[in-house]
Amino acid sequence: MSELISVSKDLRFALGNERISYLFQVSAEGLLEHLHFGGAIGVADDYPAGPQRVARGAVSEFAGVKNYNLSDTPQEYPTFARSEQRHPALHVVNAAGNTTNTLRYLSHTIVPQKPELKGLPAARGGHSETLLVTLSDQLSELRVVLSYTVYQQHDVIARSAEVFNDGDATISLQHALSSCLDLPADDYELLHLRGSWAREFNVERLPVPGGRFVIDSACGLSSNHHNPFMAIMQRGASETHGWVMGTALMYSGNFSISVERGEFDSVRISAGINPFNFTWQLSAGESFVCPEALHVFSEQGLEGMSQIWHGFIREQISPTQFKDVARPSYLNSWEANYFEVDEQRVLELADQAVDLGLELLVIDDGWFQGRNDDSGSLGDWVADSEKFPRGIDAVASDVKAKGLKFGLWFEPEMVSQNSDLYRAHPEWVLGVPDRQPSLGRNQLMLDLCRADVCDYLYQRLDSFLSSGQIDYIKWDMNRSMTEIGSAVLPAERQRETAHRYMLGLYALLDRLTSKYPNVLFENCASGGNRFDLGMLRFMAQGWPSDMSEPVGRLAVINGASHLFPPSVMASYIGPTPSHQNGRPSSLHMRRDVGFFCAARGVSLNAVDLRCDAEQLQAAVALYNATAADVVHGHFRRLLYRDNEVCWQLSSRDGERVYIGYFQILAAPNLPQKRVYPRALVATANYRLVDSGAPSRKSIFSGAALMKMGLDLRQVEQSNSTPGGDFRSWFVTLNRL
Ligand code: GLA
Repeated sequence: MSELISVSKDLRFALGNERISYLFQVSAEGLLEHLHFGGAIGVADDYPAGPQRVARGAVSEFAGVKNYNLSDTPQEYPTFARSEQRHPALHVVNAAGNTTNTLRYLSHTIVPQKPELKGLPAARGGHSETLLVTLSDQLSELRVVLSYTVYQQHDVIARSAEVFNDGDATISLQHALSSCLDLPADDYELLHLRGSWAREFNVERLPVPGGRFVIDSACGLSSNHHNPFMAIMQRGASETHGWVMGTALMYSGNFSISVERGEFDSVRISAGINPFNFTWQLSAGESFVCPEALHVFSEQGLEGMSQIWHGFIREQISPTQFKDVARPSYLNSWEANYFEVDEQRVLELADQAVDLGLELLVIDDGWFQGRNDDSGSLGDWVADSEKFPRGIDAVASDVKAKGLKFGLWFEPEMVSQNSDLYRAHPEWVLGVPDRQPSLGRNQLMLDLCRADVCDYLYQRLDSFLSSGQIDYIKWDMNRSMTEIGSAVLPAERQRETAHRYMLGLYALLDRLTSKYPNVLFENCASGGNRFDLGMLRFMAQGWPSDMSEPVGRLAVINGASHLFPPSVMASYIGPTPSHQNGRPSSLHMRRDVGFFCAARGVSLNAVDLRCDAEQLQAAVALYNATAADVVHGHFRRLLYRDNEVCWQLSSRDGERVYIGYFQILAAPNLPQKRVYPRALVATANYRLVDSGAPSRKSIFSGAALMKMGLDLRQVEQSNSTPGGDFRSWFVTLNRL
């Protein structure tokens, strides 16, 4: 007897746990009609609302039912056919050359946990069940298996679809989306994350407009323009009130998430591979697997939604072997030395890292043959003979002998024209015949549709990893796709290139991470240009932005935290004035902003490390002592306003609660404000620890802290930070 899924005799499907329900039914005509996604309803004989056959001043009917307008019918996986005139989930040029296909229910089955998604990253099953519903169009000889996984512990529905060509002729997929969610007519707002290089994850919130609102990517990676995530919420929902529904894709390539508010004001959320510039020739007997779409629902506002995402990503997506492991604090050579890394500098940095208490030394870009700037050498993954005459293994072994872990930067998917690899294999790059490929950061992209390219990359990486000296890899990716084509695909399959590239990349990552499960991979793409759940399935952490200046990073982390938990985010204390925006900042503020990411560190040169040694030592001691709390802690956005930000992170057991308050610009005579910590134990007492200035009275009850709040004016007076702009205050509440 299934706990999480039930199916009535008349084919009503109810998926859910104690908090959420997802309901749909098979209509008399065999269509899959959506009934509800939201708060728990459970199984009932009947529901008070749902699809209706009502008279509409609109054309069309369906299956001879005069008032059955499909454009007014919530559906699970619509095609563009008959009276359905909204954007479809599936749009196929069938063997007859037309796109009129109608999917009807054929059968269903319930399986424990979650079947694997062939070739694509997917959330793990855990305590879950999966409903597989088969739909078919017998005339088009088209079959679709929809997959719905529901979890006991997580308020998440994971969806995907597999499309089968049961006919004898090749058919052409135009849209093959992962999920469609039709909501009843109402006033909704949407929230999504947009940006650009070094200013990723800006929150944009707006009322759901009439028409279609689309966030997407067509540049071959999920992109920093829009993250593959969107929330739809009750109008006026706040951090802690109102219902919020989030959708995210486990995909790192061209995606689209759209919201369509149609003529009858109902709202359709569609998510999947971007149909723009995509077609897939599906040969007879073959199937196409769509990436996984995740939907979450919370009745506790945006914070409630984020808590669900954070728990789910930690438990079901992050590589299991790292999900609960405190991340080593690190010294990264990038903003310390840029391309000027060599053995002597690295060993000097390693000594300083040891003195500061850091745990991992990472050589960033610049270590491989001839790489003195960003104009060449990508692809030639051998140590530069002048900079590292003894090779990387020897340096790694010296670094490790000092008690540090050792990490190395790679940008495997790229090749420079000025490289031995390109000279040997000019045909290995993405491109189209007779057109000059565009450069991005002076480089071209390797064609990961090709098995020979993937094998080469596997071997190159394997040759480093097999030494056993490498504990960490920063996997970077610094340009987008332009002339998108592959020399190994025929003309009619050229528009499959971008997705085939992703399949090649995922297979490569799977091979490497399966062979080296204990190597910590950090995902990077010029910062957050491919920071998504697909990549995070293979890599325990990511570099969300090249913006290391703390005010800029506040916005990045705040936005990203709507979806991503601190456990997957990295941050380091960079130089001042910032190399990204020229702003000076105190080490205190840089330390405190970085605190809220699980992977923390420093990227400063030898001189800066010496100058600030004492403060850095204290910062690293704090980072090391709290690393375990942050990796499985609960993060909350207490305040986010133009001039002030306040975050809370509670250890999993709630024993320690860290609060960071950030004031961006100084102003005289400010009002006396408070901040209200959340989710404390009302009856417990907490000792407020402010290392800067222990306050006179420092034990407060959870109830008092949550209901009366903490006085931020008092905070400023007890702050050890010198006055002026860009100030932070950091305290711990220790439960007694
Ligand atoms: C990208 C990354 C940086 C750094 C450089 C090296 O920009 O985001 O962190 O690794 O590449 O070239």
